[in-house]
Amino acid sequence: MTQSLTLLGLESSCDDTAAAVVRQEAGQRAQVLSSVVFGQTELHSAFGGVVPEIAARAHAEKLDHCVVEALDAAGVTLQDLDAVAVTAGPGLIGGVVSGVMCAKGIAAATGLPLVGVNHLAGHALTPRLTDDIAYPYLMLLVSGGHCQYLIARGPEDFTRLGGTIDDAPGEAFDKTARLLGLPQPGGPSVQKEAEAGDPKRFRFPRPLIQRDDCNLSFSGLKTALMRMRDQIVAEKSGLTRQDRADLCAGFQAAVSDVLASKTRRALALYLAENPATPTLAVAGGVAANTAIRAALETVCADLGTTFVAPPLALCTDNAAMIAYAGLERFKSGGQDDMGLSARPRWPLDQTAPSMLGSGRKGAKA
Ligand code: KG4
Ligand code: ZN
Repeated sequence: MTQSLTLLGLESSCDDTAAAVVRQEAGQRAQVLSSVVFGQTELHSAFGGVVPEIAARAHAEKLDHCVVEALDAAGVTLQDLDAVAVTAGPGLIGGVVSGVMCAKGIAAATGLPLVGVNHLAGHALTPRLTDDIAYPYLMLLVSGGHCQYLIARGPEDFTRLGGTIDDAPGEAFDKTARLLGLPQPGGPSVQKEAEAGDPKRFRFPRPLIQRDDCNLSFSGLKTALMRMRDQIVAEKSGLTRQDRADLCAGFQAAVSDVLASKTRRALALYLAENPATPTLAVAGGVAANTAIRAALETVCADLGTTFVAPPLALCTDNAAMIAYAGLERFKSGGQDDMGLSARPRWPLDQTAPSMLGSGRKGAKA
């Protein structure tokens, strides 16, 4: 690269409207000049999940404001940009269409190149933006909408080793919180309750842990929790604070154990082929969980592997990851024309078998 590249990125595939500006000077690490995220939590809170139509309308209303804010915060104008990157899928189609239309509008008005980005590639390339890690590396995406192991070899070169066959882990945390009357998002509430709980009092299943592959399942945990809750309520006509803490601790321990065990397997497969680059990176809101993070760190330490977790603001949905993934794609010659379409489904590894339906927070694979 002989010149500096500055990209605007747009993200609107789920319930966050985001815009960001990322710049890379020749021979240097990329810098996030700005990253603006307008969340929609309060718009959906009454419905117990993201309502696609409400999300799409809010994205369409907010995207241009978000772009103006991101450009201002970065201290750049449209004339300073080299390209516009946008999430073109996978996700809730109305939101993805809003983003793609906005990016096409900017590209048409300015003549800037348009770069469509896979949302999952955005997450998967973030550790290169934050920690400058080299290809290849093993990536674990764990969020409210995603759960998969990917070997990242290049900006558009991924191999999927496995993933959830039903719920994503964040979804399971959120459902657990709902079943126990705890506030949303469920992950932080369940983690907080679990601090005072006994993880051994209730014996939660460890789904698929014996299976010799990298696939995971979390929906059975929620059913187990519901049964245990109902049994306590039937016996004592209510849950005590301690019952709730013990249920949260048991649930969290089961998720941690499953993720640790499957990560051990995925890492072993990865290291057998890539012994020279022993790195595991994580992304997604669930990576904020201290128990899960500690379990993954232990696995990495056992297998002589470096553990990389980008700061939470870049681990969860944001547009800096889209601008950066767009920058990598653009540098390697990738760009789109006005025919770029929004894709509700878009697996990163086109050769891996498709595993899932569309979940509460959109397409998961
Ligand atoms: O990556 P993210 O912000 O959004 C997407 O799903 O795309 O992840 C949000 C998910 C929610 O399900 C939330 O409950 C979960 O991450 N989460 C956590 C924690 N913090 C957030 N799960 C477990 N423990 C946490 N501390
Ligand atoms: Zn995401």
